[in-house]
Amino acid sequence: MRPRPRPELQDLKPYSSSDIAGGRILLHANENPYPLPQPVMDEIAEATRALQLNRYPAPDPVELYELLAEYNGVDPSQVFIGDGANEVLLQSCLAYGGPGRKALLFEPTYVMHHRQARMAGTAVAESQRSEEFDINIDDAIATIEIERPDIVFLCSPNNPTGNVTSLDDVRRIAGVTNGLLICDEAYFEFCGVTALPMLDELPNVIVVRTLSKAFRLAGVRFGYGIASPELLDQLGRVRMPYGQSSFTQIAAPIVLRHRTEVLKTVETIVLERGRIEERVAELPDTDVTEGGANFIFFTHPEAERLIGGLAGKGIIVRDFTKQVPGAIRVTVGTPAENDEFLESLTALV
Ligand SMILES: Cc1ncc(COP(=O)(O)O)c(C=O)c1O
Repeated sequence: MRPRPRPELQDLKPYSSSDIAGGRILLHANENPYPLPQPVMDEIAEATRALQLNRYPAPDPVELYELLAEYNGVDPSQVFIGDGANEVLLQSCLAYGGPGRKALLFEPTYVMHHRQARMAGTAVAESQRSEEFDINIDDAIATIEIERPDIVFLCSPNNPTGNVTSLDDVRRIAGVTNGLLICDEAYFEFCGVTALPMLDELPNVIVVRTLSKAFRLAGVRFGYGIASPELLDQLGRVRMPYGQSSFTQIAAPIVLRHRTEVLKTVETIVLERGRIEERVAELPDTDVTEGGANFIFFTHPEAERLIGGLAGKGIIVRDFTKQVPGAIRVTVGTPAENDEFLESLTALV
């Protein structure tokens, strides 16, 4: 006797991350290259020692909600927390998608959005971005009117291309859809553009964020959503008991309390992004998309050879050639890492 898997999932391959064997310089996962400051690490270590791991963690960590509310200038009742932005995105799909429902994506975009919609049993419709990977607003509105999606994913800055969607376009999309508009702002801190101030006038929007990027906390797995309490009440229906581990409940508030210090690397990363974009654009046959996140995105006719050549030198970048011909995404590293990447790339093109 064999169990019967869900037939509609059979064309989804189990998720696998990039092969980083032999990698010395990791520029493939959009992580922050700077570890947390030592005093912050020490504070986390000290607080960890006092944990009672035989007990369940707090079911609703009040201080965490308050710190996130303060950082974002909202009320704690507008905050929802999860084990990474990915969990909040999946829970949004479980609550608002599902069998017989549809999600709309603006491709090329974050690959997990497609998967999260499908995991929840939601059908997926696609609208293509422009040649410069911007949202084509007239197309977007027409597609929403035809498809009538229950969920619209809008990633800004967009992973993998970096494009930042104007707030005017966000408002128009939110206004035309009857569905949930998920504004995935995982990279918000690197561009400063957010739909957050529009939440009062747009009750169908959830802004999803993470501590994995600017806050240098990818290893902990913590993300959050901001929306109206009514909308979050729906997400509460698909939430696991004791969701965030005791360790998460120690590390995330400490990092948020030290946010001025922790976020200091954002400025360097943004400057480095501009420098790398400029240098790559000067190389023959490259086409660089100007981005607003902590990575650069470009195409080259021989992308696979370049990716292999960089890997041979221990520099791991992300191959996007299956989504966009010739496309490569490179996370901004430390200035020394970026120099080595630029030197190797220049020698290869
Ligand atoms: C656009 C986007 N959203 C969400 C995530 C997931 O973030 P987290 O690490 O918080 O699950 C990522 C991670 O790369 C991302 O690029």
